Amino acid sequence: MAGEVLELSGVGVRRDGADLLRDVTWTVDEGERWVVLGPNGAGKTTLLQVAGALLFPTSGTVDVLGERLGRTDVFELRPRIGLASAALAEKVPAGETVLDLVLTASYAILGRWQEEYDSTDLARAVALLEALGASELLQRRFDTLSEGERKRAQIARALMPDPELLLLDEPAAGLDLGGREDLVRRLGVLADDPAAPTTVMVTHHLEEVPEGVTHALLLRKGQVVAQGKVDEVFTPEHLSECFGLPLAVDRHRGRWSARSTR
Ligand SMILES: Nc1ncnc2c1ncn2[C@@H]1O[C@H](COP(=O)(O)OP(=O)(O)O)[C@@H](O)[C@H]1O
Ligand SMILES: [Mg+2]
Repeated sequence: MAGEVLELSGVGVRRDGADLLRDVTWTVDEGERWVVLGPNGAGKTTLLQVAGALLFPTSGTVDVLGERLGRTDVFELRPRIGLASAALAEKVPAGETVLDLVLTASYAILGRWQEEYDSTDLARAVALLEALGASELLQRRFDTLSEGERKRAQIARALMPDPELLLLDEPAAGLDLGGREDLVRRLGVLADDPAAPTTVMVTHHLEEVPEGVTHALLLRKGQVVAQGKVDEVFTPEHLSECFGLPLAVDRHRGRWSARSTR
């Protein structure tokens, strides 16, 4: 395994005659914090689904946590991966409390259900929600939360089984400015925590990239435009090509921003 968390080689995903991903070769090593950036429809969610062992590639090979997709039991692999996405949020049963949402993540991994909570699980769920500034939400129903509160609850759930790989699809989407800044700051704290899992976060806004992100992959029309260390990837040239318009890029106190120069 040699510390490789993700190893994609020549990966293509084809659906109904359309190439959602083309020839993606990408390695994520243990401890790295990646952001996948690209315009709407670039294939970011598709790539994250492949990384999460939820989608098999049409071509190429994918190793996730040392297991080759197609040769491994994905039902054993998936519990080792924490995923938060809008698609998952939509599947939360009506009336589910925040505490139950987080706790059931660990029951899923153990393959059991119990009426009484295990006290270590309970302590972990509460600690995770506290770390994400959501301790006051424990008994709230998920369907009554604001968008920002939902995002924090979902990230706590994704972290609950102590995953080896954390995948976040558009964690700051739909948040207002205050909510975005709060979440991006918390994601920065998570990125700086050496105990946090290897992380891949997807976004289409450079402004949502937290401090502490180490690597970036730029996608355009299913293909990789650039990948590597953030400083080398977030150049005006690469970002202009990725988004298809001339961009000026700024960095201020570890955060990035882009605007059109047209
Ligand atoms: N079943 C499908 N058939 C054809 N195209 C699809 C299908 N599913 C998704 N797509 C297209 O694939 C592209 C990539 O989708 P997605 O990975 O969701 O992009 P992103 O997350 O970057 O916005 C989009 O243009 C989308 O419309
Ligand atoms: Mg998407």
